[in-house]
Amino acid sequence: MTRAGRTIAGIVTIAGVAAALSACGGDAESSDSGSTTLTLYNAQHEDLMKAMVDGFTEKTGIKVEFRNGDDAELANQIVQEGDASPADVFVTENSPSVQVVANAGLFSPLDKDTLAQVPEQYRPSSEEWVGFAARSTVLAYNPDMVDESDLPASMLDLAKPEWQGKVGFAPGGADFQAIVGAVRELRGEEATRTWLQGLADGDAVYQGNSAVMQAVNEGKIPVGIIYHYYWYKDQAESGENSKNVKLHLFGNQDPGAFVSVSGAGVLASSDHQDEAQQLVSYLTSPDGQKRLAGSTALEYAVGEGAASAKVLPPLDTIEAPEVDPGSLNGPEVTKLMQDVGLL
Ligand SMILES: [Fe+2]
Repeated sequence: MTRAGRTIAGIVTIAGVAAALSACGGDAESSDSGSTTLTLYNAQHEDLMKAMVDGFTEKTGIKVEFRNGDDAELANQIVQEGDASPADVFVTENSPSVQVVANAGLFSPLDKDTLAQVPEQYRPSSEEWVGFAARSTVLAYNPDMVDESDLPASMLDLAKPEWQGKVGFAPGGADFQAIVGAVRELRGEEATRTWLQGLADGDAVYQGNSAVMQAVNEGKIPVGIIYHYYWYKDQAESGENSKNVKLHLFGNQDPGAFVSVSGAGVLASSDHQDEAQQLVSYLTSPDGQKRLAGSTALEYAVGEGAASAKVLPPLDTIEAPEVDPGSLNGPEVTKLMQDVGLL
């Protein structure tokens, strides 16, 4: 999920402001600094991307202007803009939207060295984009309302009648939709429809993962499906929104242990191919991954040999199911969710 109230047009970098001022007759800024400014269409969390991109700019001198939005919103915008898109690089929270742009044939092939920086399970087999971060699906539960031993073996069991109305989720967000995409890939269309219908009947719908966790924390619902970092971030801050919440990891290659990959791709229409490739290379490099792990985002690092923040259970211990991140189909998921009345 991304924060409410964010708009595509909203954010201009300091560099952008400076350029605008000088265009209005302010001081003469050297017009030929030789440096490029890349335009990053950013659907990831802004604080995380800022931490990573600052490292890139320090290292290369290449400036980056952000245009922020949600996964689907920015993917659709790029597809609509086509060859005229100002985007040089696109990064998403979850893989379905970066795959929408890949499916439209709008990405340049990535440098082989960039791909080699990330293990295969964190990038699509098509190699059209690359993962640079990951988030794991968890079940947030309130131990005053339910014992961990009474939780079901599979996330799909939460659609059963005994759980009706007890399972919070945020169907409007890209995070939950990626999870649905994984369920569909792992268990097929009909099982996914049945699962979604069960959750829809329960109607414990929230605006975002934070709201789901808050409802569990306040004892309004016993469990909720979220990504791990909402809990870890809250714990690292005040802990107020998670003090009555524990995390259950389904493990066992269950769809409920799905790890969602955040993707990055270089737009074929970019006039700055070399610099754009450098940015994606940096995001997946040891330096970039160290920035990610050291940030407050508490998402997982996915680079080859890269360590994530120490507070997180290591990715290789959570028994995630194997899913090609390029296989998750956003438009099909949207259709399915509309069918059961969730969108
Ligand atoms: Fe999120």
